[in-house]
Amino acid sequence: MTLPPFEDLTGTVALVTGGASGIGAATAVRLAAEGATIVVADVQEAAGAKVAADVGGRFVTLDVADPAAWRVAVDGILATEGRLDIAHLNAGLMTGESDVRSLTDEQVERVLGVNVRGVIYGVRAAAAAHAVEVVEAASLIVCSAPLRSSG
Ligand SMILES: NC(=O)c1ccc[n+]([C@@H]2O[C@H](COP(=O)([O-])OP(=O)(O)OC[C@H]3O[C@@H](n4cnc5c(N)ncnc54)[C@H](O)[C@@H]3O)[C@@H](O)[C@H]2O)c1
Repeated sequence: MTLPPFEDLTGTVALVTGGASGIGAATAVRLAAEGATIVVADVQEAAGAKVAADVGGRFVTLDVADPAAWRVAVDGILATEGRLDIAHLNAGLMTGESDVRSLTDEQVERVLGVNVRGVIYGVRAAAAAHAVEVVEAASLIVCSAPLRSSG
């Protein structure tokens, strides 16, 4: 499949959460092909580091459900890459539970922490990064997930 070109992203810095696999890894490859400098963030360190190396970017360990970790990650991007232009807030998980009646409190909390609070923390951190950087255009792409695994 031939995808239409993005605008030229040369000189931009893109953060891809959940970039160690799946949609996030593919996004990292695509954004890098368009010229962006990539920061892959994930809890899967080996896989994330490989994706980052493949696209000439940098890997950071980030649990998106941890607000303090967000501050460290974005501060690190501003210190290392110097700016943050694009945040693909893609990290997410499903419980693996197909019957909502079987969901445990812990499963619900974990999904809400990653898929909901993690996105809010990410939007907040990315917005704060833009606020302190002289960047004219900001892009936020969010992928959300259902609570249950199928059906
Ligand atoms: N693939 C689909 O059909 C589909 C459908 C609906 C929603 N989604 C959502 O799109 C996103 C990407 O899906 P995918 O199919 O590539 O999934 P995937 O499982 O391949 O990738 C998700 C990535 O998020 C990472 N991750 C999980 N918890 C994390 C955390 N706390 N902090 C940082 N990273 C974390 C995982 O390690 C993984 O690398 C997810 O949010 C998913 O829920 C996917």
